[in-house]
Amino acid sequence: MDHFELRDGILHAEDVPLPAIAEAVGTPVYVYSRATLVRHARVFRDGLAGVANPHIAFAVKANPNLAVLKVLAKEGFGADVVSGGELTRALAAGIRPQDVVFSGVGKTHPELVQGIEAGIGQFNLESEEEGYELAAIARRHGVTVPCALRVNPDVDARTHEKISTGKRENKFGVPLDRAAAIYAALAAEPGLEMRGVAVHIGSQLADLEPLETAFGKLGALIEELRTGGQTVTHADLGGGLGVPYRKHETFPSPAEYGAMVARVTAGWDVQLSFEPGRVIAGNAGVLLTRVVRSKRSGNGPPFVIVDAAMNDLARPAMYGAWHDFDAVAPTGERMTAHIVGPICETGDTFAMDREIDAIGAGDLAVFRTAGAYGATMASSYNSRGFVAEVLVDGGKFAVVADRISPHAIMDAERVPEWL
Ligand code: LLP
Repeated sequence: MDHFELRDGILHAEDVPLPAIAEAVGTPVYVYSRATLVRHARVFRDGLAGVANPHIAFAVKANPNLAVLKVLAKEGFGADVVSGGELTRALAAGIRPQDVVFSGVGKTHPELVQGIEAGIGQFNLESEEEGYELAAIARRHGVTVPCALRVNPDVDARTHEKISTGKRENKFGVPLDRAAAIYAALAAEPGLEMRGVAVHIGSQLADLEPLETAFGKLGALIEELRTGGQTVTHADLGGGLGVPYRKHETFPSPAEYGAMVARVTAGWDVQLSFEPGRVIAGNAGVLLTRVVRSKRSGNGPPFVIVDAAMNDLARPAMYGAWHDFDAVAPTGERMTAHIVGPICETGDTFAMDREIDAIGAGDLAVFRTAGAYGATMASSYNSRGFVAEVLVDGGKFAVVADRISPHAIMDAERVPEWL
């Protein structure tokens, strides 16, 4: 459920009519709803009612905006970060260092140092090599750092291949059959406190079965580790729960997910942690855009050219992803159209042959479910600048990320004097 609804024929974000935001901030602009973020955070936590003392770390990559992170920090969420930049943001938003988990397959030396110096709660190690490097840094700092070993369970998450992470051929984690040996080797390293295991098999998962299979394998590994004399007090079950991108689609609810987790992990005797991203932020944001003009196309449907493009919302171009497209002031009439952005690539296409609200030049519309992996994946391709972001809270709204103009980007460039 979200808080983007029609009132008196005009699409609102909570109590704010979207045309008011377009007027004040311009388009394209991402609009987030605080009430939706809070609702999703609570529904996720409530879904884990059957799990003792769960630790929930928002996957910052889904939406790293500082205001969004602060909303979630106030809900008691920690952060799952995958870069020094995300770590800096999480701390700046008020998330306590001990509630930060550092994931990522290519943490650099400076990033490992940054994590140690910040005193983060857990490093999720993705390789034996990373473990030795972290141990050496920890010894130099005279500290012992809490770690989990991320395993690759070789499970097909049945999602888009570009966002599937738990197959043997994917770069993530260590192979399950080598995990116990690697865990033991790293546990023997002064500077590391090997305390747990982690798994994350992919994103936008439409069904719980692959997750259950992966968790089952993790449970067996915990037993194997303990039988081998290792200590295991923590298990990180990652993120991945999918969300509906089309009206009337249904996905497993956090409650169903939580019940499955409680069942599969009963008897593990560990503290469980979770790294949800999309399920918290996805439907809490829309990308508000204005139609530049429509253009006839031979005998086919017209091209509706909007002022948002693949540089602002990359998912359709990158994954062929579907985002519902709704007029802000629908008349009730419908039309079939291709929806495209202004960028000079055929890939800058949001939808082909889509039945949509009848819409024309100057009209406002939204791409829905754009709160996760939206603004954060933006680029300045075609020298279009970076899109602005707005957070709505009841009847008020604030710009939470300025639009970055092509001028500002140009200001960071230098032409050497010898040219
Ligand atoms: N934990 C780890 C280790 C991850 O790699 C990810 C996502 C998450 C948690 C959060 O997953 P979520 O709950 O959001 O599914 N750009 C793609 C999604 C990439 C996801 C990468 N990892 C998209 O737009 O669909």
